[in-house]
Amino acid sequence: MIQFEVQLGTRGYPIYIGAGLLGEPRYLKEHIRGSRVFVLSNERVAPLYLEAVCRQLEPERVLHLVLPDGEATKSLQTLERVYSCLLEHRCGRDTTLLALGGGVIGDITGFAAATYLRGVDFIQIPTTLLAQVDSSVGGKTGVNHALGKNMIGAFHQPRCVIADLECLHTLEDRELRAGVAEIIKYGLIRDAEFFAWLEDNVEHLLARDAEALTYAVHRSCKNKAEVVAEDELETSGTRALLNLGHTFGHAIETALGYGQWLHGEAVACGMLMAARMSIRLGWLNEEAGERIRALLARAQLPSAPPEALQAESLQEHMARDKKARAGQLHLVLLRDIGQAVLTAEFSASTLKDTLQEFCGA
Ligand code: NAD
Ligand code: GLY
Repeated sequence: MIQFEVQLGTRGYPIYIGAGLLGEPRYLKEHIRGSRVFVLSNERVAPLYLEAVCRQLEPERVLHLVLPDGEATKSLQTLERVYSCLLEHRCGRDTTLLALGGGVIGDITGFAAATYLRGVDFIQIPTTLLAQVDSSVGGKTGVNHALGKNMIGAFHQPRCVIADLECLHTLEDRELRAGVAEIIKYGLIRDAEFFAWLEDNVEHLLARDAEALTYAVHRSCKNKAEVVAEDELETSGTRALLNLGHTFGHAIETALGYGQWLHGEAVACGMLMAARMSIRLGWLNEEAGERIRALLARAQLPSAPPEALQAESLQEHMARDKKARAGQLHLVLLRDIGQAVLTAEFSASTLKDTLQEFCGA
C-alpha cells in the first residue's frame, strides 16, 4: 500500500493507493470523526462494491443512497434528493459522506458535503481510473447546469482518498482508456520523465498490469497533489494547466452532444490539437508532436473529431468556454513535453488553421 499526503495545512489529507483496500477497515475508520456514515453510489457500482464498504462499518451507523448511472445524475435535482435523504434521516454535522464511484459520484457527493449544514466531512473512494488519478484529488466538487457543465460547485477537500486498484478490473476497456488520457496529461504538462515511462509502458497499463497501474496511479496523484498544494483555488494559473486539451475537448463534447464521446477521449483529442497548435506557433518541435501523437494512438484514443464536426462550430464553442476571460480565449499549450503554459498569445487565425487541420473544413 502506498500512502502520501496532499499538503494543504489543516485541509491536508492522505491518499491511499493499493489493491484490496476496500477490504481493510482501518483506512476508512481512521477518517470518520462522527457517528454516522452516508454512502453515495450508483446502480452500476453499488452491486459490485457497496457491500464490501458497508461491511467495514457498524451497520447501525451506515445509510446509503444508490443513484442512477451517468453524467445526468450530476444535477441540482439529484442534489435535492440527497439533501432530502440526509434530512429525513436526521443526519447531523457529525455525518461523513462517502463517495463510492467514478467522477460523477465523487463530484456530487463532494458538493453535497460542502453545502449540507454548511459543510460536513466526506471521503473519496474512486472506482474509475479517471477518478483515481484526477477527480478524487483536489477538492473540486459540483454539479452541471442546463447552461453548462460543472457550473455550480465549491472547493471542498475530502478527509482522505482510498484508491483500491482492484476496482479497476470491472471497468470497461473504453473507460480505462479515458483514464489513461488523463494520466498522459500529467506527463505532458509537468513530468517529461513520466511521459517517457508511459512510452515504455502504455500497453501494460491497458492490460491492467498491477505494477504498471500502481506506478501510474501513484505518479499521477503525486503530480495532481503537488499542483493542488501550489494553487488550491486555481488563482495563480498553475492549477489551470490541468486543463490541457480541455478547451478543445469540451468544444468537441458540446458540439457532439454529451454522452457521445467520453470526457477522456475528448481530452485526448484536445491534447493533440493543443500540441499541433503549439507546433504552429513554433513553440513545440515536430519530433515532440510525433511522440505525443504516437503515444495517444497506442493508448487507442481518438486523434481527430468525428468527420461531421466543422472547424467553425468548434471555434464557436471554444469562444464560449469559461476560460474566455474579458473576451479573450486562454488556452493551455505546450513549450515542450513536460512544460505547459496558460496563454492568450496566439492569433485567431492560428486557432482556426489548427481546427481546420483536424476537421478538414
Ligand atoms: P463516471 O463516474 O460516469 O464513471 C464512468 C462509468 O464507469 C460509469 O458508468 C460508472 O458507473 C462506471 N464505473 C465506475 N466505477 C466502476 C467500476 N469499478 N467497475 C465498473 N464500472 C464502473 O465517469 P468518470 O470518468 O469516472 O468521471 C467523469 C466525471 O468526473 C465528469 O462528471 C467530470 O466532470 C468529472 N471530473 C471531475 C474532476 C474534478 O477535479 N472534480 C476532474 C475530472 C473529471
Ligand atoms: N481536473 C482539474 C482540476 O482538478 O483542477
